[in-house]
Amino acid sequence: MLYFLPLSTLLLLPSILAIPTPPSEPLPLLIWHGLGDNYAADGLHSVGDLAVEANPGTFVYYIRLDENPDSDKSATFLGNLTEQIAQVCEDLASHPILSIAPGVNALGFSQGGQFLRGYVERCNIPPVKNLVTFGSQHNGIAKYQICGATDWLCKAYIGLLKANTWGHWVQSHLVPAQYFKATNETTGEPTKDYLENSNFLADINNERELKNTTYAKNLASLNKFVMYVFEDDTTAIPKESGWFAYTNITSGEVTHLRNRTIYKEDWIGLKQLDEKGGLEFKTTEGGHMQLDDEVLTDVFKTYFSPPEEVSNQLANNEQELLEL
Ligand SMILES: *[C@@H]1O[C@H](CO)[C@@H](O)[C@H](O)[C@H]1NC(C)=O
Ligand SMILES: *[C@@H]1O[C@H](CO)[C@@H](O)[C@H](O)[C@H]1NC(C)=O
Ligand SMILES: *[C@@H]1O[C@H](CO)[C@@H](O)[C@H](O)[C@H]1NC(C)=O
Ligand SMILES: *[C@@H]1O[C@H](CO)[C@@H](O)[C@H](O)[C@H]1NC(C)=O
Ligand SMILES: *[C@@H]1O[C@H](CO)[C@@H](O)[C@H](O)[C@H]1NC(C)=O
Repeated sequence: MLYFLPLSTLLLLPSILAIPTPPSEPLPLLIWHGLGDNYAADGLHSVGDLAVEANPGTFVYYIRLDENPDSDKSATFLGNLTEQIAQVCEDLASHPILSIAPGVNALGFSQGGQFLRGYVERCNIPPVKNLVTFGSQHNGIAKYQICGATDWLCKAYIGLLKANTWGHWVQSHLVPAQYFKATNETTGEPTKDYLENSNFLADINNERELKNTTYAKNLASLNKFVMYVFEDDTTAIPKESGWFAYTNITSGEVTHLRNRTIYKEDWIGLKQLDEKGGLEFKTTEGGHMQLDDEVLTDVFKTYFSPPEEVSNQLANNEQELLEL
């Protein structure tokens, strides 16, 4: 007779019978906001809400450098990017949910896009599967015009850094200076000052003599890297930086990534990624960060949706075969 099963056995039953997490569970999503924004901002969270609507069950993590939203906002102007990215790496690798995920997807807005790429290249634990960036500055900025029209705090910092872009203090404290790129307009080559002093971009783009092969390996391991440029972007200059293109500021002539040395010699794995169909160049209407819900939803469904349930599909096929 089984009427007197001990209570402990009964309590175990539900977990024994529990169905394992289906493979169709969406991966967690990382969102890294842009300059002057903060991780708790309503606008950012409405993007996260859209992601959940498109792929129900998505765990969204808003990357932050400080739990206090005001301090997190300050950190978008002030800080050493080497340290900021290292901190994000630590936070993600020790996060109770993210650290055990088989992978994550990532969405970067403006400078948050190149910082997420930095995360992929330098750390990538948990590994990013699909990276989408909007209006980012992958080939740096050629002008400091990155602040919103009425963002006076931002403008004040920009004034400071214009004065001494390549100084050690500026390179270790003012964020936009660390992805400013100076190019000799005659030769199209980066300047010596930039190569010697850039604390972030010259390193992350492997522009120096000594290349870090981990950067290329990690970036090439992505499934998709999708780069959106805003058609009428007049804030991120040049806007084509969002596609890793080089723009001659004097003539306006654009050299596509595929015609640049960073690609041809595959310094950071972009060629490898492109050859397996993982690199996408996209445009979207509007000015800098004029996000459209429809475009976002399309991105979430196209790139962040879990794969179809292959196992069920196989089971069905098997069933059909048996019936033949
Ligand atoms: C390359 O980058 C990886 C990841 O950040 C780091 O661990 C390694 O020390 C770097 N190698 C060199 C030669 O700088
Ligand atoms: C930025 O932080 C790193 C790591 O702490 C440090 O080595 C570096 O000197 C700092 N500043 C610059 C300009 O690299
Ligand atoms: C740019 O490069 C040319 C050719 O090497 C050189 O003559 C010129 O001085 C450089 N310009 C600047 C601003 O460094
Ligand atoms: C950039 O444009 C200027 C003006 O047309 C031209 O003189 C210069 O050679 C161009 N630089 C490169 C690298 O093509
Ligand atoms: C690369 O340069 C060649 C020769 O200038 C040009 O014909 C081609 O269209 C360029 N490719 C891209 C992708 O821009």
